[in-house]
Amino acid sequence: MSFTILGTGMAVPKYSMTNDEMSKIVDTSDEWIRTRTGIQQRRICTTETITDLTVEASLKALDEAKVDPKELDLIICATLRGEYITPSQACVIQSKIGAVCPAFDVNAACSGFVYALDVADSFFSSGKVKKVLVVGFENLSNITNWEDRSTCVLFGDGGGAVVLGEGDDLLSIHTTAKGNPDVLYAPHGENCSPFYKHESEKPHIHMNGNEVYKFAVTSMVRGIRKAVKDAGLTMEDVTYVVPHQANLRIIDAAAERLGAVPRENYLCNIQNYGNTSAGCMPIVLDEANKAGKFKKGDIIAMCAFGGGLTTGSCVIRWGK
Ligand code: ACO
Repeated sequence: MSFTILGTGMAVPKYSMTNDEMSKIVDTSDEWIRTRTGIQQRRICTTETITDLTVEASLKALDEAKVDPKELDLIICATLRGEYITPSQACVIQSKIGAVCPAFDVNAACSGFVYALDVADSFFSSGKVKKVLVVGFENLSNITNWEDRSTCVLFGDGGGAVVLGEGDDLLSIHTTAKGNPDVLYAPHGENCSPFYKHESEKPHIHMNGNEVYKFAVTSMVRGIRKAVKDAGLTMEDVTYVVPHQANLRIIDAAAERLGAVPRENYLCNIQNYGNTSAGCMPIVLDEANKAGKFKKGDIIAMCAFGGGLTTGSCVIRWGK
């Protein structure tokens, strides 16, 4: 298929909030959060903006890829809420890094990064682009209900970016949506129209954790199996799995069902960052890349699930 990863980058806010600090805000404990989710701390924006961080991650990825921003043919940013309603976050990034190409956002919640890769694949396959910047980033602390212990302990801010060039290292990619605005949603917030007859809600994330949990485990197993099969491979061929970082228990349950790949090859950093939605996968990719974990030819299976309800899975061969 159409592309190869030329460079990765990530950026997270400086402030790391521990579970003990969280327990001063809501009725929770380090023990509950660790054992139920695996999360130990999360990064929260204080002085940084989503623009500062998406630009930082993008420049790092471009630097590693040795690609000048002016060479980019397209920028896609996966996020459910950028700095503005308009312009898109991708357009803001474009202006700040000095690129001159088309730019737009994709909103598929936690699956956004894989959706954005899928869109990039189509542009490569049609021959319209040679270099693409894909960013996945969320500032979830901005739409978190800090009085709801069942959700606020789960999320964090941060994300990353990849620069893609022409190549054949995307071996398969698959996205799904099962529209459901009830189990996981966040409203826009205030409606400014004096004519609107419905009450406005705060833009908080609402989630039925147990329903999402069931969807998550099934989706992860199904998504990875499909992506691996479509790539013409078996689980035995997979070197690393990059799972969505929503809950270590979800990852453990999926790993057990999928077999073949040792649990330590499921790359996890939820301990440090919590769930950064569309930001999770590029952060995991960049940390593993910069740590020298990936070797040329490694087979990486990725799978995300989230609001929508959406899923996205793909298999990438590491080409660097
Ligand atoms: N601290 C202490 N107690 C808590 C907390 C907390 N932070 N949150 C809930 N509890 C309590 C509940 O009130 C409940 O108490 P009760 O038994 O007295 O009623 C008890 O803990 C158990 O609650 P459950 O909801 O059953 O806890 P569970 O073990 O299922 O874990 C969790 C909840 C972590 C949310 C889990 O269901 C989960 O991870 N779900 C999936 C979330 C997910 O994957 N989201 C991804 C998409 S996010 C996106 O797209 C932006």
